[in-house]
Amino acid sequence: MKILGIETSCDETAMAVVEDGRRTLSSAVSSQVELHAKYGGVVPEIASRQHVEAVIPILDEALRTANVSIDQIDAVAVTYGPGLAGALLVGVNFAKALAYDLGVPILGVNHLEGHIYAAWLDSDDEPEFPLLALIVSGGHSDVVLVKGHGEYERIGETVDDAAGEAFDKVARLLGLGFPGGPAIDNLASSVESASLRLPRARLDRPYDFSFSGLKTKVLQITRGEDGDIPNREELAAAFQESVVDSLVTKAVKAATDHGARRIVLAGGVAANTLLRKDLVARSPLPVILPPAALCTDNGAMIAAAAYRRLTAGERSNLDLDVEPGLKIG
Ligand code: KG4
Ligand code: ZN
Repeated sequence: MKILGIETSCDETAMAVVEDGRRTLSSAVSSQVELHAKYGGVVPEIASRQHVEAVIPILDEALRTANVSIDQIDAVAVTYGPGLAGALLVGVNFAKALAYDLGVPILGVNHLEGHIYAAWLDSDDEPEFPLLALIVSGGHSDVVLVKGHGEYERIGETVDDAAGEAFDKVARLLGLGFPGGPAIDNLASSVESASLRLPRARLDRPYDFSFSGLKTKVLQITRGEDGDIPNREELAAAFQESVVDSLVTKAVKAATDHGARRIVLAGGVAANTLLRKDLVARSPLPVILPPAALCTDNGAMIAAAAYRRLTAGERSNLDLDVEPGLKIG
């Protein structure tokens, strides 16, 4: 079964052809990062307009590189939330028109479920349930217990900024470009271990996160309120160590407390070098680390998430609407 996965929830126009929910035949991504960089963040209206321009070329690229023709597509899967309303609308309407025209089923996919299903792509390992998914992106930091296909319980979340958002905001304080995650990852790579130790938030709920206090601390340091200002590399490394320590400590605790068999790292921040290394080093369970290109937004993960639902007979109607505030679990 060949599924076309369509993803336009934020600033990537992405489409992919995936076979039987596991094999990525193509994954085409048009990133708008450069367009938004001069504004220091994603501008929703620009994102929507750019998606409109990119959908046809990206569809062509996804089909061409998969070496399949449009009439070989068996179903269309599309992200319907969470995300930017206008951006989601472009993907959903495009998907509806395409599915109607081809006479194939369409299925709306939760973007966060998509991030989890990157774990099934291009690997022979069958991820075992229960799985503990740590979904860390620009908009989310969720700890989700995956009890079976499509069965989710969100047991932890951020109480303020998402992890990726914290990376982006701190990068701005340090005068680095947008998106901040890769910039901080890169800058911090020259520091073995930071001598500065920044705080880790303590919260009542054991698997929740908070990053806004850490961001404020970095702001105070950059203003010289804490004495001598450390160099940017040191500050980037200390910030990254604090975020990664919180994420890893809570994910590992959640997984062991709930008898999980695997930990899956998902979302854009899952591309972070230190997070990948530390999670593997500190987890007593096997960790599934999808390749970085499947961790950031892509269409393949959307097709992968749709596969089991479609084979179980699930369908969306042509009145499928966007749900910008959709949650998981
Ligand atoms: O999942 P994603 O591509 O889009 C959302 O759904 O938000 O995640 C984007 C986020 C951005 O905040 C970006 O700074 C962060 O992922 N990110 C990283 C890295 N690469 C991307 N954060 C830390 N280290 C990275 N290497
Ligand atoms: Zn995402």
